[in-house]
Amino acid sequence: MDWTIKPVKTLRGTITVPPDKSVSHRAIMFGAIAEGDTRVTNFLMGEDCLCTLNAFKSLGVEIAHSKGTVEIRGAGLSGLKAPKRPIYLGNSGTSMRVISGILAGQKFTTILEGDDSLSNRPMERIMKPLKEMGASIRSLSDGRCAPLEISPSKTGLSGISYNSPVASAQVKSCILAAGLYARGETSVTEPFISRDHTERMFEYLSVKVARSGCTAKVKGGSKLIARDIAVPGDISSAAFFIAAGLIVKGSELTLKNTGLNPTRRGVLDVLLRMGANISVMDQKEGVEPVGDLLVKHSLLRSTIVKEEEIPLLIDEIPILIIAALHAEGETVIKGISELKVKETDRVESMRFNLAKMGVSFREENGNLYIKGKVNGLKNAIFDSFCDHRTAMSMAIAALSAGGNSTVQNVNCVNTSYPSFYTDLMSVSQ
Ligand code: S3P
Repeated sequence: MDWTIKPVKTLRGTITVPPDKSVSHRAIMFGAIAEGDTRVTNFLMGEDCLCTLNAFKSLGVEIAHSKGTVEIRGAGLSGLKAPKRPIYLGNSGTSMRVISGILAGQKFTTILEGDDSLSNRPMERIMKPLKEMGASIRSLSDGRCAPLEISPSKTGLSGISYNSPVASAQVKSCILAAGLYARGETSVTEPFISRDHTERMFEYLSVKVARSGCTAKVKGGSKLIARDIAVPGDISSAAFFIAAGLIVKGSELTLKNTGLNPTRRGVLDVLLRMGANISVMDQKEGVEPVGDLLVKHSLLRSTIVKEEEIPLLIDEIPILIIAALHAEGETVIKGISELKVKETDRVESMRFNLAKMGVSFREENGNLYIKGKVNGLKNAIFDSFCDHRTAMSMAIAALSAGGNSTVQNVNCVNTSYPSFYTDLMSVSQ
């Protein structure tokens, strides 16, 4: 499927931000191995999270769902059952990496498979620490990528203190999940703090997490005690409309129920620094903090995004590039190597598409340099590279192009934001 995007005069209205993908995944994963029943509300019915949901059904967990509400009968740490066939996880890196941590502690063998993109993403980053813990995990392809085969550990898992070379919440969550099955304590230290949804959900479900700076530690054998989970709106999805509201003249958008976890809201903090007119209203605390955002068209100025900020906004870099094109001065985004190992290489996908609009950015020593205040963005035919965030970023960029544009192969948005185009049309004037 393709989208046609027409230039808009302005954007006005209210959008209820779709449920958070990262929190939806974790609600299923940790609800499945908790003691007792969990009711998840505002669950993201996107393809990635449905892969996680189906994975746990294949592992014998009773799960019923209807319209964003999921009921999970927790199997406890040791109640999962051997699946009848390999588990397919589609495009979802979070599913593959975090579920591997849970499976490392099981007494049966599982094979995890993914689509072409997921089968080319690096898995050594979880295989190495899991092997150090005593897990039996191997790649059934080139030694580095999925499919992965995870068999019962010969020795049982032992806790480790792992210094992760990357700041990655997927890696951290994988190790902490395996830590529940390990002897002794398991700790992960990252170079910079990454999103802390796993730590928060563990704590919410009565598992103590010792946190200090960039380190999180859990005790083996800690039991998760089921509790209802209300998933916040996804700030990564809201980010497309935040940027659109700031860029398009005369815009005023309200984004309801946006997740505001301090380890996720980097995009908001960077845009505020760039002069964005965004007010946070009606902030509430739950498993995660949420609030409504009022976004008004703003004259943006450039900024420097530091390397330690990258994990706090990793998924928002494509749309930040679009915002930076509209800012006064040159924006620098430092330390972007992780952007190249997402659903696609997002440096290349954005470079390719922006060239079609007649603009470019510079990449030097792992940093991006984006000159702003571009005039006369050309309309064109864009390629999603089967990556949801590239597709949605280019749709927002096309709102201020010289004529009608097309974004091709947009089915990929079903992974995180199935109603994106409908929402965009509903606020376009
Ligand atoms: C996620 C962590 C991030 C992010 C991904 C979701 C998570 O990946 O890009 O979309 O839910 O833990 P990394 O851990 O690879 O940075």
